[in-house]
Amino acid sequence: MSVVTSVLNRRRFVLAATGSAVGMLAAPSILRAAGEINLYSSRHYDTDEALYANFTKETGIAINRIEAKADQLIERMKAEGANSPADVFISVDAGRIERANTENLLQPIQSDVLSSRIPAYLRHSDGSWFGFSKRARVLVIAKDRMDPKDAPSYEALASEAMKGKVLIRSSSNIYNQSLMGSIIAAHGADEAAKWATGMVANFARSPKGGDRDQIKAVAVGEGDVGVVNSYYLGKMMKSSKDDQRQAADKVTLVFPNQADRGTHVNISGGGVARHAKNKDGAVKFLEYLASDQAQEYFAAGNVEYPVVKGVPLASPLDTFGEFKEDTLDAQKFASLNGQGVQIMDKAGWK
Ligand SMILES: [Fe+2]
Repeated sequence: MSVVTSVLNRRRFVLAATGSAVGMLAAPSILRAAGEINLYSSRHYDTDEALYANFTKETGIAINRIEAKADQLIERMKAEGANSPADVFISVDAGRIERANTENLLQPIQSDVLSSRIPAYLRHSDGSWFGFSKRARVLVIAKDRMDPKDAPSYEALASEAMKGKVLIRSSSNIYNQSLMGSIIAAHGADEAAKWATGMVANFARSPKGGDRDQIKAVAVGEGDVGVVNSYYLGKMMKSSKDDQRQAADKVTLVFPNQADRGTHVNISGGGVARHAKNKDGAVKFLEYLASDQAQEYFAAGNVEYPVVKGVPLASPLDTFGEFKEDTLDAQKFASLNGQGVQIMDKAGWK
C-alpha cells in the first residue's frame, strides 16, 4: 500500500514518494463531510500546519490533505477524471502549476479578493491559478573568495572568468527550467542556448543534489558561486542544526540582475480543481491564502516572500534587503519551460 495515514492527523494522507500511478489509484477513497475541502498539495513544509489550522478555525471548513509530489498528484487527478475528489491543487513553481492547467485539471475562477491582492504577473490571466508566495532564485557566493560585484547577474556566471566556479542543480529541476524560461524571455532562444553552454563550461562539478547542497558546496570550497532559491538559505540560517547554520554563514546572498531586469522570482501557488465538488470552499481557501495572516505565515514559517504588498517580513527575510525583481509574467516563463529543457539538454546540462 502506497498510502500512509499520519497518526497525527487522520485527515492527512501522504503518498509514498515511490508510489506509482496504479498504487495511487488503490488509495482509499476520500470521504467528504459537508463543508470540507480536499486539498491536493505538493508543498512539503511542516510550517504549513498553522495555515491549515487557522483556515479551519476561521471558516469552520475542514481540510483533507492529500500530499504527494506534484507530478504524482497531476497523474492522480488525470486518472480520477470527473470523479476526482480534489477541490484545490497547490504546488511549487509556476512551471508545474501551469502543467496541471494545460492538462485541463484546473478551472478559471473570478475573485475580486485574489485579483486585487495578487499582482497580475504572479497569477494566470484567466484565474486558473494564483501565486501565494514568492521565492527569488538568488546567487550565494563564497564570503572569503568572491566579491558581489564579480557576480552581478545570471549572465555573468556564463563568462570566462567563472570557469570551474559555478554550482547549480540538474536541468531536470523545475526551478532551473523556469529560470531558463526567464532567460529565453529576456534574450531569445539563441542567446539562451549560448548562456546554457557557457554555464555548463563553468560548472565546478556535474550537477547534483538540491539547493541546500549547492550552498554547502560553496561553504566547503567546491565552487565559489551557487544558484539557489532564497528560502533555502533562509531556512539554513535559522536551522537548529549547527552544520546548516555554519554553511549558511560562509556565503553572501547576491540578488542578480539589479542593474537590468531584476532577479528571477517564482511562486508557490495553485487553483481550483477542474472537477471541484466544493468550489465555494475552494475559493474561500485560496482567498484565505492571500490574507495578511496567511501571507505572514509564508514569510515566518518558510522564509518565502509574501505576494501581497505591505505584509511584514519575518527574520531572516528582513535581513536580505530590498531587491528589484524580474516582473516577467509567471505564465510566460512557465510556458517557456519545455523549450528551456530542450536548450539545457542540448548544452549538456545534466
Ligand atoms: Fe523547494
